Amino acid sequence: MPTGSDFLDGEVCLLTDRKGRQHLVSLAGGVQFQMDKGTIEHDDIIGTPEGSLITTNRGTPLVALRPRLADYVLRMKRGAAVMYPKDTGPLLTWADIAPGCRVVEAGTGSGALTLALSRAVGGGGRVVSVERRDDHAKHARRMISSFHGSVPDNIDLRVGDVEPVIDEVRPDRIVLDLPEPWHAIEPARRALAGGGTIATYLPTIPQVQTYREALDDARTFTEISTFEIMMRTWTIEGRSVRPDHRMIGHTGFITVARKRLKDGGKHPAGASNGTD
Ligand SMILES: C[S@@+](CC[C@H](N)C(=O)[O-])C[C@H]1O[C@@H](n2cnc3c(N)ncnc32)[C@H](O)[C@@H]1O
Repeated sequence: MPTGSDFLDGEVCLLTDRKGRQHLVSLAGGVQFQMDKGTIEHDDIIGTPEGSLITTNRGTPLVALRPRLADYVLRMKRGAAVMYPKDTGPLLTWADIAPGCRVVEAGTGSGALTLALSRAVGGGGRVVSVERRDDHAKHARRMISSFHGSVPDNIDLRVGDVEPVIDEVRPDRIVLDLPEPWHAIEPARRALAGGGTIATYLPTIPQVQTYREALDDARTFTEISTFEIMMRTWTIEGRSVRPDHRMIGHTGFITVARKRLKDGGKHPAGASNGTD
């Protein structure tokens, strides 16, 4: 929907109060939104332009906005743990997810990263997102549809294990947020073209260590780096100008690697991407 346009029945709306508390509401005619500061009829929001001030029946004003993707991800119902927005941006940048890329992603989880990947690859790209748990896959489909109204054409949601899908799709980029990414290294080694990236998101250092050793053993990857992102928000109120007391201390470690070809890359036609 164009920024600023009127809210439609079925859209998601973010209601924010004076203290910055946010409420995510799926608009439906005839339904009422209830909070501690009163109630709002969804019909009072539907048909009003984005950015309007809506007042509860007890006089509390709330701003009605379309959620940014980051707001939506942090507020949406979760099946599996989502990738945090603070990590998504750097991952998209360092894995070089660009318009037109063909990406294989797993596991879909709650669909948070899938939404970001779909935006980054644009209409000319494709995100094949694979989830081994049927309940998570169904939940992700609902969350993606609720954000966009339906699943975007550039997202292909599949149920199963990611490893065979990497071989089938032969992606430009692979993004893995799952506990044992080392099982995907061999398919990635076969399927990625020279320069292609594989990015992983892992919560613990023993996992990162196992994965890094497996990457080294494959002797096919270069430009390997592991990093984490810390984001510290600040309070700026009059003379109180300081970091917030609380922050998200730890989410996950991002590791990015690129495929290299062996022996200068000269290989016979039909060979598997120059990999031995
Ligand atoms: C932490 S969640 C992913 C969250 C997702 N990135 C998001 O932002 O919503 C990990 C998911 O990977 C799935 N999974 C684990 N191993 C898998 C595999 N080999 N193939 C496909 N999915 C897998 C799990 O079922 C789980 O739903």
